[in-house]
Amino acid sequence: MSDCRYHGAGSTRLVTPVLSSGLKATPKQASSKNCRLPFASRVLHYRANGFLHYRKRLIKDRGMSTHKIALLDGDGIGPEIMAEAVKILNLVAERNRVNFELKSGAFGATAYFSHGDAFPEETKALCDSADAILKGPIGLSHEESKKIPVDMQPERGALLPLRRRYDTFANFRPVRLPKNIAHFSPLKAEVIGDGIDFIIIRELVGGLYFGNKKIGVTAEGKRFVTESLEYNEDQISRIARVAFETAQKRKGVLHNIHKSNVLKSSVLWNEVMEEVSRDFPEVEVKHILVDAAATYLCLDPAQFDVMVMENMFGDILSDQGGGILGSLGLMPSACIGPEKAYYEPSHGSAPDIAGQKIANPYSMIGSVAMMMEMSFGMDGEARNVWQAMQSVFAQGFSTPDLSKPGADVNMISTDGFGDLVAQELSKL
Ligand code: NAD
Ligand code: IPM
Ligand code: MN
Repeated sequence: MSDCRYHGAGSTRLVTPVLSSGLKATPKQASSKNCRLPFASRVLHYRANGFLHYRKRLIKDRGMSTHKIALLDGDGIGPEIMAEAVKILNLVAERNRVNFELKSGAFGATAYFSHGDAFPEETKALCDSADAILKGPIGLSHEESKKIPVDMQPERGALLPLRRRYDTFANFRPVRLPKNIAHFSPLKAEVIGDGIDFIIIRELVGGLYFGNKKIGVTAEGKRFVTESLEYNEDQISRIARVAFETAQKRKGVLHNIHKSNVLKSSVLWNEVMEEVSRDFPEVEVKHILVDAAATYLCLDPAQFDVMVMENMFGDILSDQGGGILGSLGLMPSACIGPEKAYYEPSHGSAPDIAGQKIANPYSMIGSVAMMMEMSFGMDGEARNVWQAMQSVFAQGFSTPDLSKPGADVNMISTDGFGDLVAQELSKL
C-alpha cells in the first residue's frame, strides 16, 4: 500500500507520496486514488483515523479543475485583507487553469448583527459543501464585544463551533522570516542568524477551550467558575502523530512543550508523546516546559524547528511567534481536520486599525498559500506565492505594522501590497 507523507525541506514543505517501504512513489503510484486525497486530509487520514472511512468520503479527482472555496471575511480588518487574498486566488486560478468557485458567507460579529447568529445556518451549509474554507479574523474590541451576549460572541458563537464542526484538531502556525527580510524582527541580527523558520503545531479542539465549564455561586454567595483542561489519549496521539510526521520530514527534531511539573494533563500528554515516539525512532524529542519555551523563543528561536503543544499553550506561544517576526500580520495558519480544512490568519480582527487600509494581508495571503499546498496539492504554486510576498518586502517595501516611516522605507497600503504580490507572482 502506498503512503503519502509530509515532507519539509527547510522553509518549504513539500508533499511527496512515499511508499510504506520508504521509497518514493513513481508518478503513476503517486497519482493513484489514495494519493489524490487533499494533502491535509491524507496526513490525518492515514495517521489518525484509519483508512476506509475517509477513503469513502474524501476521494477527489485531482483531474477535476473546480475547487469550491467558502470565504468568511469576518470582522475588523477581515474584509480588507480578504480582498487581497481573493486577488491572489483569482490570479492563481488563471495561471494554473483551475477554477476556484468562491462563495462568501456571513461569519463573526458582522453575522451576529445581520443574522442574529455569528455562525448562521446558511454559512454552515456553505462550509459543509466547500472543499476548503478561507476565514478572515473575527471579533470585536473589548468594549464593542459587550454588545453581544457572552455565549453568542463570535469567538464562542462562531469560531469554536467552526473548529468543533470540522474537528480541525491540527493547527499549523509557521513562524518564518527569511534572512533577507529579517530586519522586520525586533530580535538582534546575531540572534536571528540565518533567519527564523519553525512551525508551531497546536492542538486545536481540546484542552481548556472545549472542557467542562461550571459557573455558579457558592453557599457563601461568592461567584465562582471552573474550567477544565481535558484530553484523552486519542486526542493526544493524533496530534502527536501529525507532529512527528512533520518533524520526520523536516529536521528530525521535535520540541514537545508541556507543563508536567504542575498539570496532570501534561503528564498524560508526555506519556502519550513518548509512546508515539517509538514509531518515529529517527525523530529526536526534546521536552521543554512551556514557561521556559517562552523565553527560548526570544533568546534562541533557531533551536526550534517543529514545536507541538496543547491548545492554550499554542494560542499564546504562536502570538509570541508573531512578536519575534515583527508583527502578527506575518502569521498565517492552517486548521486541519479529518474531513475538512480551514485556513485563517493567526491574529485577530485588529479593531485598532480596521478601515484604515494599513493592515498587512501577508497572513491572509499566506493562508491561501497553505491552502494551495495542503488542500489542493499545488505545492509549486504555494511556494511561488510565498516567494512573491517575500520579494515584495525584500525590495524595500513595508506595511506600517512592520516599520516606522523613514527614508529607507517604502510604505504601502493593504491593497498596494496585494497588487505588488500579484505583480511578483506573475513573473514566476
Ligand atoms: P489582534 O490580533 O486583532 O491585534 C493585536 C495587534 O496586532 C494589534 O495592534 C493589531 O493592529 C495588530 N495586527 C493584527 N493583525 C494585523 C495585520 N494583519 N496587520 C497589521 N497589524 C495587525 O488581537 P486583539 O486586539 O487582542 O483582538 C482583537 C479581536 O480579535 C478580539 O475580539 C479577539 O477575540 C479576536 N481574535 C480573533 C482571532 C481569529 O479570528 N482567529 C484570533 C485572535 C483574536
Ligand atoms: C486564535 C484566537 C482564538 C483562539 C480566539 C479568537 C478564540 O486567539 O486563533 O489564536 O484563542 O484560539
Ligand atoms: Mn490567538
